[in-house]
Amino acid sequence: MLAVTLDDPSDLDAWRAKARSLLLAGVDPADVEWRTGAGGGLFGSDDVIPPARRTTVPAVPRAFLGLAGTVLAHRDPRRHATLYRMLWRIAHGERELLRIATDEDVAWAHACARQVSRDMHKMKAFVRFREVRLGEDTVYVAWFEPEHDIVPAVAPFFVRRFTGMHWSLLTPSRSAHWDGATLAIGPGADRADAPTEDALEDLWRTYYASIFNPARLKVDAMRREMPVKYWKNLPEARLIPELVRDALPRMQAMVERQPTVPRKKVTPLQKAAVDAPEGSIAALRRQARDCRACDLWKPATQTVFGAGPSDARIVVIGEQPGDQEDLAGKPFVGPAGKLFDRALDEAGIDRSALYVTNAVKHFKFEPRGKVRLHKRANAEEQAACRPWLAAEIERIRPHGIVCMGAMAAQGVFGSSFRLMAQRGQWLDLPDGRKAMATVHPSYLLRLPDHDAREAGFADFVRDLKLMREVLG
Ligand code: URA
Repeated sequence: MLAVTLDDPSDLDAWRAKARSLLLAGVDPADVEWRTGAGGGLFGSDDVIPPARRTTVPAVPRAFLGLAGTVLAHRDPRRHATLYRMLWRIAHGERELLRIATDEDVAWAHACARQVSRDMHKMKAFVRFREVRLGEDTVYVAWFEPEHDIVPAVAPFFVRRFTGMHWSLLTPSRSAHWDGATLAIGPGADRADAPTEDALEDLWRTYYASIFNPARLKVDAMRREMPVKYWKNLPEARLIPELVRDALPRMQAMVERQPTVPRKKVTPLQKAAVDAPEGSIAALRRQARDCRACDLWKPATQTVFGAGPSDARIVVIGEQPGDQEDLAGKPFVGPAGKLFDRALDEAGIDRSALYVTNAVKHFKFEPRGKVRLHKRANAEEQAACRPWLAAEIERIRPHGIVCMGAMAAQGVFGSSFRLMAQRGQWLDLPDGRKAMATVHPSYLLRLPDHDAREAGFADFVRDLKLMREVLG
């Protein structure tokens, strides 16, 4: 047995370096004992990995590295050994291993990755910072107890959310600190290091009480979404028993009251932002190549990710790639794209200044002989793809978003958005961004007669010209 120690058990680069040396030396997975920091210290030092028997390791699919990075954050002590066994199998001829969903190792790794993703989702949703005054400075400190080792993976999300604040995120195994410029990951902390009360608590409680809808009270679903173990760190949780008790009388009162003006809803895009993957646009594009969030990847040639400058002032969102986009791997290169280019020309806008993407990133079609007939992505497929769009928008931080077609517009504004009634005007989104909707160029291609097409095109150009206000 060959003992190998990892100082940081969740660090992909460290695991990868050891796994690579083992693979080059031809060490069978069954002969390796993986230890982590403390274990290595207790049981003595590492064995020396034998010299390499080969000079290169076969290229490993990118999807495996993505999966390994997530699985390593899981606390299961079997993760290093299982991942090395999978790597070994891939390097020894099982190149398509990840496609075999029923394989025991693959199924186990995916189950771990799902648990880690869920834990990350909970952390993003339930962390509450509390204000601490340090002389002149204000620091925000939060305490959270994640199940897995997810602080390094989640911290960048909080950097983006609270860029202007100085904060510390404390957990039992690690901490993250942001001073407005640098993110530092440090050791774990104690519950006592974080405050329990501050003036923000009342704000949270008022907010929660105001969004709580007694008519939609589902105690089981609430427990599932906001498990009781998180309640102790949530200021609003103290309200839950009272709100549940009062739900029935409040609901009766609601029924009797006159209808009121509906409150602004959270948009589908805002909801999806919680699950938005991390990384630069280039990293997102790489990750999206292996997206399996719905089944559209199976018959499609490739993922068609957005294209354009990652600091574009405007993001244009279409619906879904067509036949030619699927083959080229780029958005809007087919007939609808040609019409879009012509309209941009006429509106005096340079497409190279725009980041152009789609609400759904795979071509959906029905084969008819040699032809692939376009099919509209359904609501589940659109929802599965939305975190990619949310990530693109979070990374680019555009000044304006332009939606072409109802699918894009309803994802950005919400399902009550009516394209033909509300097109052609900049509107404010709940997050303060500006967005505008117009028709999709393929709608113009489908118009039945020449005059209608000409008039439709002129209106489309008029809408696109509004981008000039934002492009400057
Ligand atoms: N239609 C779209 O919505 N997007 C494309 O990329 C092509 C056609």
